[in-house]
Amino acid sequence: MAKIIGGLSTSHIPAIGNAISREMFEDEYWKPFFDGYPPAQQWLADVKPDIAVVIYNDHGLNFFLDKLPTFAIGAAPEYTNVDEGWGLEPLPPYPGDPDLSWHIIESVIEDEFDITSCQEMHVDHAFTVPMSLFWPDRAKRPVKTVPVVVNTVQHPLPKPARCLAFGQAIGRAIESYDSDEKVVIIGTGGLSHQLDGTRAGFINKDFDEMCMEKIVDDPEALAKYSIHDIVELAGAQGAELINWIVMRGALTGKVSEVHRNYHIPISNTAAGMMVLENRA
Ligand code: DHB
Ligand code: FE
Repeated sequence: MAKIIGGLSTSHIPAIGNAISREMFEDEYWKPFFDGYPPAQQWLADVKPDIAVVIYNDHGLNFFLDKLPTFAIGAAPEYTNVDEGWGLEPLPPYPGDPDLSWHIIESVIEDEFDITSCQEMHVDHAFTVPMSLFWPDRAKRPVKTVPVVVNTVQHPLPKPARCLAFGQAIGRAIESYDSDEKVVIIGTGGLSHQLDGTRAGFINKDFDEMCMEKIVDDPEALAKYSIHDIVELAGAQGAELINWIVMRGALTGKVSEVHRNYHIPISNTAAGMMVLENRA
């Protein structure tokens, strides 16, 4: 059966994509952020996953406010990147894995998560920026991908407990997939940030650090919060934390932390990243 070898999480701020294009890795503003990633890149080079299941939120590119699924899963042979308005240079398409996608879709629906299946899907910065951070050669495509989209944009958003359970259902699905391939789960977005309204610029370092602790070995502690608590504590866009919770739910074995980085601010966001290993 396919093996889930670990989970990675990272913020997905669009400005990172521009900084990568301009190779600003040694720039004073960017260095403490980019310096967090080589250990993750090295870990990936060591464990050599075949597939990445990417849990992220679409920002109006593929779904808009008129039609917005709570959970959607891609089942396309490839995923095309289009600029949704941040001026990022579009990257080459990402290969899909329709067989695994359909296996996950069938399994989670059997498990009573009635997701939307997407045989065509465009991917935005929340998918591409993390892929570029973890696999920095943007011309290469070393893994097949399965995009999983969570609504973190328009209320009502799914509650953290439901996201943890959804991740667990994805984990069960992957582990019942007849293949000897190795899979990593990537959760993107967060940590605390709010882009608009009277709390624009809001950041909550204490809450972020607590989340990074709990996500390793007590994700149930995060699942106890209501989604409104998360918005209050992490900011309106900090609700992207639920993508990390889905990722953690899919790690069904013994989880240990390999690496983390936390840096305030990148653009308006507390930028966090983690590498978690999952042992059967
Ligand atoms: C920013 C953060 C995000 O998560 C996003 O999707 C867009 C912008 C920011 O901090 O600029
Ligand atoms: Fe975002």
